[in-house]
Amino acid sequence: MQNISVIGAGTMGNGIAHVFAQKGFTVSLIDTQPAQLTQALAKIGANLDRQITKGLLTAENKQAALASITTYTDIPAGVASAELVIEAATENTELKLTIFRQLDQAAPKTCILASNTSSISITRMAAATRRPQSVIGLHFMNPVPVMRLVEIINGYATDADVTRQMVELTGKLDKIPCVVNDYPGFIANRILMPMINEAISCLYEGVAGVPEIDTIMRLGMAHPMGPLQLADFIGLDVCLSILKVLHDGFGNPKYAPCPLLVNMVTAGYLGVKSSEGFYKYTPGSKDLVVSTRFASY
Ligand SMILES: NC(=O)c1ccc[n+]([C@@H]2O[C@H](COP(=O)([O-])OP(=O)(O)OC[C@H]3O[C@@H](n4cnc5c(N)ncnc54)[C@H](O)[C@@H]3O)[C@@H](O)[C@H]2O)c1
Repeated sequence: MQNISVIGAGTMGNGIAHVFAQKGFTVSLIDTQPAQLTQALAKIGANLDRQITKGLLTAENKQAALASITTYTDIPAGVASAELVIEAATENTELKLTIFRQLDQAAPKTCILASNTSSISITRMAAATRRPQSVIGLHFMNPVPVMRLVEIINGYATDADVTRQMVELTGKLDKIPCVVNDYPGFIANRILMPMINEAISCLYEGVAGVPEIDTIMRLGMAHPMGPLQLADFIGLDVCLSILKVLHDGFGNPKYAPCPLLVNMVTAGYLGVKSSEGFYKYTPGSKDLVVSTRFASY
């Protein structure tokens, strides 16, 4: 397998394109927004520079990696010779179903179609194609060049040989693949999101304040970051939407999002991306400052 197409040049798409290009694959990077493609190439260049500074790559490696990436704004042109397509477009079910129908029409018959979705059913995307046996989840973690895990998700109809090929391929990227089955939240988010939701419930009920909850989980459980800070980094809107997928998918009240989380998202307090969530973020400052809204909790 040599030709990889990546759909979506945002946070995840540029990272996925980066790791394949760095390992000598031929990469087609596709986004409907030309500005996103320009930004993605600049980001990949800057991240490769960081690897050079750390002594992990040479300037020649960087040039070769950048030269192996071609950009497209049109899906059919970008997947015409793909052996594997990895969809990393915006997390929206209808958008992804449309993309999978397009890919099924435009990609070669033998091409494997993968999605980097955090929460949308792989089986549902597979059912939008005439090749459900060749559809699989490849859940890379952010930031892709740094994080080693790839959660590989078997859809209901995924062929065992397709899974085997993806395990082999992700190994070639120096990643650690873990194969799971397609149920809501897969494994990573099914376990992470209830923990974050429980931390928010503890705050909501006044059991402890923001610094206490995060410090207990950092120092007591050796987590690199507390759950409230992590939620701010992921985006509180993203956390809420994944909790809704778990709640709807299992019909179990244990996944019901905490009302405080719902209120914060409704009010536009989304974490780092909106400058305030459980903490307040000031550009240029690395200090962790609790939001004044939680000063009296
Ligand atoms: N950000 C994360 O931490 C993270 C982690 C794991 C998985 N994911 C998943 O990865 C996927 C992408 O997330 P992201 O954070 O990179 O999003 P993002 O918003 O940074 O990027 C999405 C990109 O998709 C492009 N796009 C939208 N419609 C398109 C189309 N029809 N064709 C081609 N490109 C299109 C947008 O222009 C944008 O550049 C989502 O499914 C998300 O759930 C995200």
